[in-house]
Amino acid sequence: MTSSPTTNDWWTSAVVYQVYPRSFADSNADGIGDIRGIIDHLDHLAALGVDALWISPWYPSPMADGGYDVSDYCDINPDFGTLADADALVSQAHALGLRVIIDLVPNHSSQEHPWFKDALAAAPGSMERDRYIFRDGQGDNGEFPPNNWPSVFGGSAWQRVTEPNGTPGQWYLHFFDVSQPDWNWESPDVLEEFDRVLRFWFDRGVDGFRIDVANSMVKESGLPDLPDDAAIGELVGDSPMWDQPGLAPIQRRWRAIADDYADTPQGPRMFVAEAYLPHDRLVRYLEPDRLHTSFNFEFLISAWKASSLRTTITESLAAHESVGASATWVLGNHDNFRPVSRYGKEISGLDFSNPSAPHAQFHGTPTDVARGRLRARAAVMLELALPGGAYIYQGEELGLPEVEDLPDEALHDPTWERSGHTDRGRDGCRVPLPWSGCAAPYGWSANANTWLPMPNNWAEWTVESEQQDSTSFLALYRTLLAERRANPALGAGTMTWNESGDEVLDFSREPGFRCIVNFGGEDVAVDATTVIASSVTLSTHGTTALVGRDQAVWLRA
Ligand code: GLC
Ligand code: CA
Repeated sequence: MTSSPTTNDWWTSAVVYQVYPRSFADSNADGIGDIRGIIDHLDHLAALGVDALWISPWYPSPMADGGYDVSDYCDINPDFGTLADADALVSQAHALGLRVIIDLVPNHSSQEHPWFKDALAAAPGSMERDRYIFRDGQGDNGEFPPNNWPSVFGGSAWQRVTEPNGTPGQWYLHFFDVSQPDWNWESPDVLEEFDRVLRFWFDRGVDGFRIDVANSMVKESGLPDLPDDAAIGELVGDSPMWDQPGLAPIQRRWRAIADDYADTPQGPRMFVAEAYLPHDRLVRYLEPDRLHTSFNFEFLISAWKASSLRTTITESLAAHESVGASATWVLGNHDNFRPVSRYGKEISGLDFSNPSAPHAQFHGTPTDVARGRLRARAAVMLELALPGGAYIYQGEELGLPEVEDLPDEALHDPTWERSGHTDRGRDGCRVPLPWSGCAAPYGWSANANTWLPMPNNWAEWTVESEQQDSTSFLALYRTLLAERRANPALGAGTMTWNESGDEVLDFSREPGFRCIVNFGGEDVAVDATTVIASSVTLSTHGTTALVGRDQAVWLRA
């Protein structure tokens, strides 16, 4: 283990595996993944060699947004299991040396949350309504939304309610789906309730929280209009909707709660922020008294280009260092096109100014699968060699592609409906994992009727099949993660770029480690006797090995 359960600051170098519970494994044949399914396959994660798992929301939820619409923050969705199952998962993961991070969704609840039902039943101006963001509409009869803010999922961010007496009434704010009303973080009730939620799960042994949309929550007071011409894409800079100064005190409050657990055998608990923000803004969240770490999405956004990646790596490291935090690296998650497919697209980089719909640009464009696979293998070698922590989204270790041909009627992501069927959304990266066998559902479930259909051509990408193939993605991931544990140069720390021309990323880490990724047409010659791992079998001539285009190598230096 790189991090025994008592090591403080384990998050500075941890490799965290994201479990999307609905799609990980179905233990009871209802076609929906569940907690027992995760427990049944913890051996896969231990053998893979990750340090922790992060579980996307597992709470009771109408599942309008894959569980990011929570109706009870202190219980488990019956589709996924029970609190006893959750406890069993935490303790069995710990027994295998795996930490467990769960998802906190503090920007909004589900409309099924009892407090939102109370708010609907109560009068305008009541303390029940004050827990959410209710406002009177504009216009003579309040028939227009209170301001011009757009929802990330399309349409207006406001929904009008019918008052208990049957008349058209106030409007409530929802940054995401209409079924996801935003909490009012100026309400003391909300603050206290989330303190309770944090303690509830920390007391059950959870090691940390991923904070969903950590740059929202607090809105500029007065809720001023956006400039008329501001597309949602421009909202990550100075915007009344995002990244408000009022987030800092909430983060400090949560940090103090996590630090309260410092004296427990597990040590202090941690937070990882999800916030699509430029580096300079993002790292403010990582000041020493605020959050521990965050996803660094600029790596995920970057096109497969040496210059772009070199810049983003250099800037990320400098920004994190300026606040004394460790960086993290992310290739994918449940919101983004899978790397194998993304890197096979003509344009592999993203304009990530839209916080939740970056996948949209990829739908319907051709993918060169072979090239995407080659690059995704090189990309993970780069990711795992960089200083800091790393995130692996379930299925990346199998090289799963995005499922780009889901039938319209199979789509679940609210983006599909809210965009008027123009954005197919994120279901393509949420398809259940293939575990074994030759036909769908590949050991994922005993029920062929899986919540998203599984492709017919995935027999080669099952865990079982890849385990037997030394050239598989799984074999590569295991090799890299084992080396990362064993090699003191890897994980948190520093790196130095080596001079290597425009088309090659070449850097060293101490003691005695070097990583080279070739993006160009000219082979890079290395000493074959120093190779630790390579993204593909390198062609060798005597003691010289050649690293070709879209290939990567780890070397003993
Ligand atoms: C985050 C989640 C995403 C969800 C959104 C609203 O971006 O990762 O899946 O739709 O927040 O909760
Ligand atoms: Ca199930």
